[in-house]
Amino acid sequence: MRRAGRVVREVLELVRSKVKPGATTLDLEKAAATRLDELGVKAAFKGYHGYPCVLCTSVNSEVVHGIPSAKRTLKEGDIVSVDFGAVVDGYYGDSAITVPVGSIDPDAARLLAVTEKSLHAGIAAVKPGATLGDIGAAVQDIVEAEGFSVVRDFVGHGIGVHMHEDPQVPNFGERGRGMKLKVGMVIAIEPMVNAGRPDVEVLGDGWTAVAKDGSMSAHFEHTVAVTATGARVLTE
Ligand code: CO
Repeated sequence: MRRAGRVVREVLELVRSKVKPGATTLDLEKAAATRLDELGVKAAFKGYHGYPCVLCTSVNSEVVHGIPSAKRTLKEGDIVSVDFGAVVDGYYGDSAITVPVGSIDPDAARLLAVTEKSLHAGIAAVKPGATLGDIGAAVQDIVEAEGFSVVRDFVGHGIGVHMHEDPQVPNFGERGRGMKLKVGMVIAIEPMVNAGRPDVEVLGDGWTAVAKDGSMSAHFEHTVAVTATGARVLTE
């Protein structure tokens, strides 16, 4: 799974380097797809329930599952969430980042920083004997202390020989509740954070989830293994 995680990281960092005003989200998709071809690695999302691309690119109030498009040109001040998964020798890696386009306003920058910090708080809660509620509460505390909200309609997940395995890994919860983690389990922790209300709706394309109140939304994700001493991040 570490090998899949390394490919995911490489491709996400390549995409990050292509984010600039004037680029389209399809340009990002093409860069990722070209690199995957060179590596001979299979993308995890393309074909998953009919999803058409290797990346999800979700701009501003789009929360997750935005479809790359030649019509979506990034402009200064936007934020774009890029989610990517790969399969290597049957094992999956899954990670997401939200990237500023040029210079962004301070509230948007704070949303990105807080969402990434909440992912790291979730990862810090991972160890044998900790519960899924410990992870969710760690994420939720960071997000809500800043006046932002955790999206409830999408959650993290177990990952291994499928992209989505049990258990579900919510980004909210109560300490001490839920399944206990054991050494060798691997989960994807993926907080989705709205600047405003948590409610989302899916657009007519059947994929793009947007914040109902139109507020900006950020998403960071890592694939994380439970080890004897804590956590190992497989997608860094
Ligand atoms: Co995921």
